[in-house]
Amino acid sequence: MTSVNQKWLNALPKVELHLHIEGSLEPELMFELAQRNNIDLPFDSVEQLHSAYKFSNLQDFLDIYYQGANVLQQEQDFYDLTWAYLKKCESQNVIHVEPFFDPQTHTDRGVAFETVIKGITRALNDAQVKLGITSQLIMCFLRHLSEEAAFATLKQAEPFIEQIVAVGLDSSEQGQPPEKFSRVFAEARKLGLLTVAHAGEEGPAEYIWTAIDDLKVSRVDHGVRAIEDLELMAYLKKSRIPLTVCPLSNTRLCVFDNMSEHNILQMLEQGVCVTVNSDDPAYFGGYMTENFVALSESLNMTKDQARKLVLNGIEASFVDDDRKQEMRVMLG
Ligand code: ADE
Ligand code: ZN
Repeated sequence: MTSVNQKWLNALPKVELHLHIEGSLEPELMFELAQRNNIDLPFDSVEQLHSAYKFSNLQDFLDIYYQGANVLQQEQDFYDLTWAYLKKCESQNVIHVEPFFDPQTHTDRGVAFETVIKGITRALNDAQVKLGITSQLIMCFLRHLSEEAAFATLKQAEPFIEQIVAVGLDSSEQGQPPEKFSRVFAEARKLGLLTVAHAGEEGPAEYIWTAIDDLKVSRVDHGVRAIEDLELMAYLKKSRIPLTVCPLSNTRLCVFDNMSEHNILQMLEQGVCVTVNSDDPAYFGGYMTENFVALSESLNMTKDQARKLVLNGIEASFVDDDRKQEMRVMLG
């Protein structure tokens, strides 16, 4: 077994499949955008904001996260947000990304859908040209809102459908089962979109089953509670339906008390297609490299395991076989 260090992990080519673009809003940019858009923040300094980032569950975090997103108003704000994330990716050798965006977080405040998607996609296109980072964009529905609101959002997305690869489902999980959105996901599939959903983060393994059976997801976001259901574990191994796991997020939101208790390597060794991702890096203490470093420090992840996790990410990505092969070659 070879030991893994931070430098090696940073240089390792990586793929990110579970990243909320609004969750990459660093405090410094949040203050800059608040000033640019004349918005009052309920915090006086970056330090004060950082000290508010102590969460005991998902809802605690979401309350602060939606508040932070209020500073995003103009197309340029969405561009700057996305570009800052992509520059971070460049510095950590992240070669392909599939970010989520939450249109309802913005349209419910009066920001046009078009403003949001144009800013984000302009940055993604620039990153492909200037940084060589490829991407696919995923539009999430907020599951605490109604099915009707999700349908209205899908309608707004139709003129931009070519820019979106899949729909997803995020926000408060408890009491919001995936099947609430079965019909809207069916409509999205008819439009040619793939589907993913957050399931089994705080919610039960049952939600992973319904995400698969009712929403026909290609990947499950988080899914760590699959381990509570042996039959589901067997199904995930056999089907290779990937889980986009977010280690730092899971410990910051108390899904696991300690990183040393995280089950990602256990699932990897059992043959589940698990991948490493950062979720909301500005809020959870790190981007891709920091997530890999945490696994190395707390779970003694080997180089071989780190490479397997990246290979799973490549397998799970929504790109064609040529790009997948290119990325495998980059991994060496
Ligand atoms: N939105 C942003 N991050 C999320 C998470 N970890 N779970 C559910 N919804 C989210
Ligand atoms: Zn997430």
